[in-house]
Amino acid sequence: MARKAASRLKTRYVCAACGSVQLRWSGRCPECGEWNTLVEEVVEDRPSLSSAALPSTSKPQPLAEIRADALQRWPLPLGEFSRVLGGGIVPGSLVLIGGDPGIGKSTLLLQTAVLAAQHIGTALYVSGEESAQQIKMRAERLGFGSSDLLLLTETNLDAVIQVIESVQPRVCVVDSIQTMYVDALESSPGTVTQVRECAQRLQTVAKARNIAIFIVGHVTKEGTLAGPKVLEHIVDTVLQLEGDRFHAFRILRSLKNRFGATSEVGVFEMTGEGMREVTNPSEAFLAERVAHVPGSTVAVTMEGTRPLLVEVQALTSPTQAPLPRRTANGFDYNRLFLLLAVLSARLRFNLNARDVFVNIVGGLTIEEPAADLAAAVAIASAYLGKPVPPEVALIGEVGLSGEVRSVSQISQRLHEAAKLGFSRCVIPKTARKVESPPAGMRVLPVRSVGEALDMVLNGAPQQ
Ligand SMILES: Nc1ncnc2c1ncn2[C@@H]1O[C@H](COP(=O)(O)OP(=O)(O)OP(=O)(O)O)[C@@H](O)[C@H]1O
Ligand SMILES: [Mg+2]
Ligand SMILES: [Zn+2]
Repeated sequence: MARKAASRLKTRYVCAACGSVQLRWSGRCPECGEWNTLVEEVVEDRPSLSSAALPSTSKPQPLAEIRADALQRWPLPLGEFSRVLGGGIVPGSLVLIGGDPGIGKSTLLLQTAVLAAQHIGTALYVSGEESAQQIKMRAERLGFGSSDLLLLTETNLDAVIQVIESVQPRVCVVDSIQTMYVDALESSPGTVTQVRECAQRLQTVAKARNIAIFIVGHVTKEGTLAGPKVLEHIVDTVLQLEGDRFHAFRILRSLKNRFGATSEVGVFEMTGEGMREVTNPSEAFLAERVAHVPGSTVAVTMEGTRPLLVEVQALTSPTQAPLPRRTANGFDYNRLFLLLAVLSARLRFNLNARDVFVNIVGGLTIEEPAADLAAAVAIASAYLGKPVPPEVALIGEVGLSGEVRSVSQISQRLHEAAKLGFSRCVIPKTARKVESPPAGMRVLPVRSVGEALDMVLNGAPQQ
C-alpha cells in the first residue's frame, strides 16, 4: 500500500539570482555560484501558464515586409526620464525600475503616470504596496490631487489584467512586481516563480495590447534586484534609480534597453514636491563648491552621452593605526588604491601613515577612469595643503607608471567645462588634438600625474 507520491507536496529550490531550478538545497547555487540564493518553492505541475496566454494568431512574416520606420514613441514632458528611455515611452514595452527602498521609485512613477494621463491617454496606477489614501496623499503633495489618473490597489495579477483589459490604458504602472501573485501558483508573492510568472504575463499583455507597462522591482540588501536576474531577461528595459539617502540628487540609469542606448542617465532632485528634473547637472553638482580649499578638484566625466562636472574631495590625516584607513565614497575603491600606489611609488608621497578619504560630492558614483587624474590631484592637494586654482578642471585616466592616459570625448568634456566657466583644463597629452578648443579655455596637456601636479600646484611634494 504505497502512498501516492503525488499526494505529497513536492518542493524544489529556485535560485533567486539566476532562476535555475535545483532538486535539493545547497548553500551555493551550482549554476551561477552565488551563495544563499536557493529558495524553497512548491512545485506546480501545470504547463507554463504564460505560453497558454500567448495569442494563437502568430504567423511568420517576410523580413522585407516588416515596416521598421521609426519606432513610435510617446513623448513625456519629463525630459530626463524620456532621455533615459531613449526618447520617450515605447508602446508595447515592459520597463522595470529598480532601486533601494525609499529612493523615490513610487514618486517618479506616480509623476510619470499623471503626466501620461495628461498627455498620452488613459493611465492606470496599480499599487500592491500602498492604500489608495496613501497614494492620494502623495499625489496631493506633488500637486496632482485632481488628475484623472486611474488608481487600483490590488495584488492579484489576474484581477489587474482584467482591469487593464477593461479600461485599456496606454500607460500602466505596477508597484511593485514583488507584491503581485498569480492564483494558479502556490508559492507566495515575491518568490522567483511568482515574480517571473507575473512579469511574463505583463509582458504578454503589453505586447498584445500595445501598452507601456512600468514595473517597480525592489532591490535586496546586496543591491541586486530582488527575485531574479530572470526578471531582467523578461523585460525590455531595465532602469535603476540611484542616489544616496543623504543627498537630494537621484540618477536614473538605463542598464538594458531594447529600444535605445544604455548608459544613458537622467538626473533628478528629490524635493517635497516630488522629483524635479535637473537639466543642468554639472551646475547642480558644483553648486556648493568652496574655492581655494586644499583637497578639492573638479573632474569632467561622461554619464552616457552627457559630460558631467563633479567635485572630487580628498582628505588625508595622520594616523597611528598600523593599517591606515582608505575610504572611497562614489569612487572606485580599487582605483583609489591604484592612485595611492602611484603617488607613493612614483611621486614619493608618504601616505603610509595617513588615512585617506575620497568623496564624490552630491552622492554620485563615478565608474569611468577619466576622473582618476582629478582624484589623484585632489589627494596630492590635500596632502600638500595646497589648493588647486578654482578655474581648473581635470580629465584623464591614470596608469600604473603614473602616466596620464587618454579618454574618450575630450572635446565634449572641454566644452562642458568651458560652459561652466572653467578657463583651464588639464588633459592627457596623448589625446587626439582638440580641433577647436572652446573660446576662453586654455588646454594643458600632461604626460604624467607629476606634470599635472607641477602645473596646478606648482611645486614638488614636500617630504
Ligand atoms: N512630506 C515629504 N516631503 C518631502 N519628501 C518626502 C515626504 N514624504 C516622503 N518624502 C520622500 O519620499 C521618499 C519616499 O519616496 P517613494 O515612496 O517614492 O520611494 P520608493 O522608492 O517607492 O520607496 P519604497 O521602496 O518604500 O516603495 C522618502 O524617502 C522621502 O525622502
Ligand atoms: Mg514605493
Ligand atoms: Zn543561481
